[in-house]
Amino acid sequence: MTTESGGWFETARFGLFVHFGLYSLAARHEWVRSRETMSQATYDRYLERFDPDLFDARQLAREAREAGMRYAVLTAKHHDGFCLFDSSLTDYTSVRAAGRDLVAEFVEAMRAEGLRVGLYYSLLDWHHPGFPVDEHHPLRGSRDARTTEDLAGYRSYMRGQITELLTGYGEIDLLFFDFTYPGMGPEQWGAKELMETVRELRPGILVNDRLGIPGDYVTPEQYQPDRPLERDGAPVRWEACQTLNGSWGYDRDNHDYKDPSQLVRMLVQSVSCGGNLILNVGPTGRGSLDPRARDTLRAIAEWSAGHARAVHGAGPSAFPPPANALYTQAGDRLYLHLLAWPFGHVHLPGLAGRVRYAQLLHDGSEITFHEVDGARHEHNNLAPPSQPPGTLTLKLPTARPDVLLPVIELFLEPVESTV
Ligand code: GLC
Repeated sequence: MTTESGGWFETARFGLFVHFGLYSLAARHEWVRSRETMSQATYDRYLERFDPDLFDARQLAREAREAGMRYAVLTAKHHDGFCLFDSSLTDYTSVRAAGRDLVAEFVEAMRAEGLRVGLYYSLLDWHHPGFPVDEHHPLRGSRDARTTEDLAGYRSYMRGQITELLTGYGEIDLLFFDFTYPGMGPEQWGAKELMETVRELRPGILVNDRLGIPGDYVTPEQYQPDRPLERDGAPVRWEACQTLNGSWGYDRDNHDYKDPSQLVRMLVQSVSCGGNLILNVGPTGRGSLDPRARDTLRAIAEWSAGHARAVHGAGPSAFPPPANALYTQAGDRLYLHLLAWPFGHVHLPGLAGRVRYAQLLHDGSEITFHEVDGARHEHNNLAPPSQPPGTLTLKLPTARPDVLLPVIELFLEPVESTV
């Protein structure tokens, strides 16, 4: 997997999504302009105040890497049409508004920390005069509303901007287009031609599926697949995109935060099902992470420091996990993630004779085990054997290790490949 084009994606497993733009100043969801049906003039008050003085891409890159993230994706343009890069095709950019090419800063900082880089590009554009006033558009229902049938101008604008992004910022590893909906799809976007342009400029790039034509990976949004994803019986590459609190853009009064341990479980669940997790942060109007986001990344970082190899380069296992547990596997290392901490023992079906050593991953402390042969009784000869033959029983310490998600690393006997 890792040698083919785009194989870095499976090795990386964990990414950072960054939603930042004019909506960050409103601080009430990135769809604020549409939700509140704001005119351009009303929305322009954020343009006038836009000053990302605390946007520090290098710090963000460090925080992402420490959290165990191996790629990062920034909103180069969101639905409001505001661009975080220096586009010759519009004045509606962070460069004109604040003298900052945030895409350039982001790409450089992420690269410097060894992260792969992706860009998010909205297909919707509520600023472009050639974009139809449809049911999502902020001007729907207003007397100024224009309907337009002719999207040719907008299509060439998108092609031009994508060309700028893929030629002006060095290597870009991934493109996240967003999104297709009834009435606005591949035909309207000129998806085929756009995809051709992308492939021509960056042959190795990974493109998501939201142009409405098949891309290189699929993007389940705000839900966690609980099994590998397939199309026509063949496994597909996927990435669950998740928020900290349900909003992508900074949403000051939204306190619906996921617990860091829940986020780690979501990451591991993705890996155990052959997918990735990209976790979003929405920097504040001034561009910094608010304490809740920062603390969450720090907590995940602490877990990642001791558990990276159960995630990066790992994938699903063919072994069936016991209840309340997930497996990830990398070659002859099998990782048992204990979602609940059982008392005394954990029983692993089918692993008798397959494991030569076991340890808690975070501290490398040995975990002893024994195998049930189907004849011997577990505790006394009044009780029947409680486990079927072939079961491997690990002896656990009574106290649950104080980490977000305890992991036991099992070194498998070198038999036939089990991945
Ligand atoms: C949705 C939302 C958008 C967000 C995206 C992230 O499509 O419209 O605001 O950027 O999801 O996947």
